[in-house]
Amino acid sequence: MAASARTALRLTSRMATRPRATVERAALPFFQRAALSGSTAPRKSEVIKETEVPVSVYSPDSKGASPSGNGEHFKIPVRRDQPEVPAEEEDKVTPLTSKVYNQMTPTMQKMSVMGKVIIITGGARGLGNHMARACAEAGAKAIAIFDANQQLGDEAAAELYEKTGLPVTFFKVDVRDGAAIDAAVDSVVELYGTPDVLINSAGIADSNIPAETYDRNMFRRLIDINLNGSFLMAQSVGKAMMAAKKPGSIILVASMSASIVNYPQEQSCYNASKAGVVHLGKSLAAEWAKYNIRVNCISPGYMDTALNRVPALDAQKKIWTSLTPQARLGAVDDLNGLAVFLASDASGFMTGSNVLIDGGYTLY
Ligand SMILES: NC(=O)c1ccc[n+]([C@@H]2O[C@H](COP(=O)([O-])OP(=O)(O)OC[C@H]3O[C@@H](n4cnc5c(N)ncnc54)[C@H](O)[C@@H]3O)[C@@H](O)[C@H]2O)c1
Repeated sequence: MAASARTALRLTSRMATRPRATVERAALPFFQRAALSGSTAPRKSEVIKETEVPVSVYSPDSKGASPSGNGEHFKIPVRRDQPEVPAEEEDKVTPLTSKVYNQMTPTMQKMSVMGKVIIITGGARGLGNHMARACAEAGAKAIAIFDANQQLGDEAAAELYEKTGLPVTFFKVDVRDGAAIDAAVDSVVELYGTPDVLINSAGIADSNIPAETYDRNMFRRLIDINLNGSFLMAQSVGKAMMAAKKPGSIILVASMSASIVNYPQEQSCYNASKAGVVHLGKSLAAEWAKYNIRVNCISPGYMDTALNRVPALDAQKKIWTSLTPQARLGAVDDLNGLAVFLASDASGFMTGSNVLIDGGYTLY
């Protein structure tokens, strides 16, 4: 049996046959469930939370050390609260300047995207928007946001420009529209030069639709955006890179749904679309290695973005969290480091990979 089928079966049988108390327990964060599962679990009253740690140092250098071995004794404070990051600081985007770049070590320079022209689809909001910000912080020369949402896209580009001073252009492009994509990519080439990087994050999700009643037009629409859109974007940007004989990195945002069947919501179309994206990425990687174009996929687990912030999913989110070893959904910037790494020359020998970034969800 395939691994994904085994996982789905395991989860289904695990959850479907559970008595109520067990299901409630499943809704607890993982670490709490783990604590409940063994007879040696500490009771709440037994949990030790010191405010200070006593330390005894015995060494020739320690003050007060004596031949009698009295040593040096002191206490170090224990901080349990996370220092709060002021809201405006969290929202800051700090571009990488040449001055700072020149002071970086060769390894860190290689992990940047200094001087690169980057196209990001779905960059109007959510994960794409945060990856765009990360690219600005990692040295991008210019950023082009392609998105179907005129208002959000325009606002996102204006905001990124205001925060960084970098050239940022918004193109209102639907990733289903090959001709519009070609026109926009040509325009990027004219404005900033051939793109070095494409991050394709545009995508939609349908869930809680049983396959037997799935509206056929909805099914086609989702495949058109998630899978065909990934192809049209990669083809157009890939052709521009080939024409300029420029090496490039294409990053397709897929999903862990490409590797597992999500539980408990039924979403055959989304899962199939993302499995298609991963295999498209591998196929393009094999074909385009000869042009020095790398193609890799990022497969996120459940992320806390607007895509999932719908009341209908509230109850299911508790189950998702309980099935994720890290006991949380991903933050909206949790893909940033990986996106920059895949865009950078530091991942130069990496192509055709599909990197899961899911808080451990697919481990079970
Ligand atoms: N949020 C998650 O839990 C999660 C998990 C795994 C994978 N993903 C994938 O990550 C990507 C980004 O997700 P997100 O959570 O940031 O979603 P989001 O809805 O916040 O952002 C998606 C962006 O894509 C744009 N878009 C949608 N359809 C488009 C089209 N036809 N043409 C151009 N732009 C279009 C939207 O306008 C929006 O700005 C998607 O591909 C999604 O499938 C998300």
